[in-house]
Amino acid sequence: MSTMLEPEGTYEGVPAYHYDNTASGPVLSHHQRWDEIAATHSGFRSSIARGYWVVTDGAAVQEALQDWRTFSSKSVTALDPDPKFLWIPEMLDPPVHTQWRRLLGREFSPNAVAAREPEIRRVAAEMIDRLTGAGGADVLDEFARRFPTLIFLRLMGLPEEDLDKFLGWVHNMLHLSYEQDPDRSRQLAAITEASAYFEEQIALRRQAPRDDLLSRAMTWEIDGEPISDRDMHAFCVLMFQAGLDTVPISVGWALYHFAGHPEQRAAIVADPSLIPTSVEEILRVYSFVIPARKATKDVEIGGCPVKSGEMVMLPLAVSNRDPARYENPFEVDLNRKTSNHIAFGSGPHRCLGSHLARLELNVAIEEWHQRIPDYRIADGQDLEETGNMYGLKSLRLEW
Ligand code: HEM
Repeated sequence: MSTMLEPEGTYEGVPAYHYDNTASGPVLSHHQRWDEIAATHSGFRSSIARGYWVVTDGAAVQEALQDWRTFSSKSVTALDPDPKFLWIPEMLDPPVHTQWRRLLGREFSPNAVAAREPEIRRVAAEMIDRLTGAGGADVLDEFARRFPTLIFLRLMGLPEEDLDKFLGWVHNMLHLSYEQDPDRSRQLAAITEASAYFEEQIALRRQAPRDDLLSRAMTWEIDGEPISDRDMHAFCVLMFQAGLDTVPISVGWALYHFAGHPEQRAAIVADPSLIPTSVEEILRVYSFVIPARKATKDVEIGGCPVKSGEMVMLPLAVSNRDPARYENPFEVDLNRKTSNHIAFGSGPHRCLGSHLARLELNVAIEEWHQRIPDYRIADGQDLEETGNMYGLKSLRLEW
């Protein structure tokens, strides 16, 4: 299917497109568009807003993510090179970033995560048990979003009754298109509300520490100084986005994929030892994170003459679906041997929560298929995906 992106001419000798990554579209349209562009271009200029560069050479994307000296995280939003907000650790560069990662690493280590497995499995099983007799559901609302979000609230030590409030904020922060929110005011409002909420939660813990991640983080020191309330907020806001939206998107893609591939579904039901590879393949093929960086100096990458201070978008999909890197790159292969994908990023900002995310995804797929092994996509729905991070807006399944 052609995604009909027409070049608008050139900018500094490089093809220019009116490429809007924030726009929603038909299911998988963003991936197909990346595949098409990457087949002929190593990079291009997007003319959206002030304009930014987009690298579509898979190897160059990974190189840029690793080269934090040239590609800074001071801004990670292609549309906004000078953001008025700070997300910690995402928008820090080394060496301060390294200190945060060292402290956070303990909380998200494989052992710390493994200790949570029984609880994670119980939460997933209970939610799916409630759905088995329903005959069908919007699985994003009823399961994919609720399950990891509840785990996240427990991990952070936040009240579980705030679940719906959290889901609303995540939507406004991450899923509104440029057209829906051209001046980013709704995004900023959600960030402000969430920040006020965290301010209150932080104050509660300053008075009376608890046994949770937020209370422990307050005892940490960066550069020999205790962490300020401002930085605690910046940390909470980032954790909240990174931890709340991503696993739901992946669970959605997994159920979408297996609904459309009954033979693969039968294979993982018959042999659950195939599930870990299926998780890696779904992360790879349906890669949905599109990092961006701000150039600290003039540099050429993907054929783009980037100037210091300009933004560069680095779509992970072009690396994870790169025909030079994978055989049958667009196919989920349950027997694929190499799993060197970069769905969790690359370089110093590689996902802090990858062990937790992998566990949640494996558990979700195992528990789901033990209870609901046979299901299909319900008729009469236009499947659409969000922009920014590509996830299905809704998915009604029947069983
Ligand atoms: C399938 C699920 C997930 C995917 C695909 C994913 C992907 C990513 C990617 C690509 C990055 C790097 C972004 C960049 O380079 O700008 C990242 C960073 C991060 N992720 Fe995840 N993530 C997932 C789940 C989670 C979860 C569950 C948590 C925590 C509860 C989490 C916490 C973080 C944090 C804190 C960062 C920032 C790390 C840093 O800046 O050093 N992620 N994630």
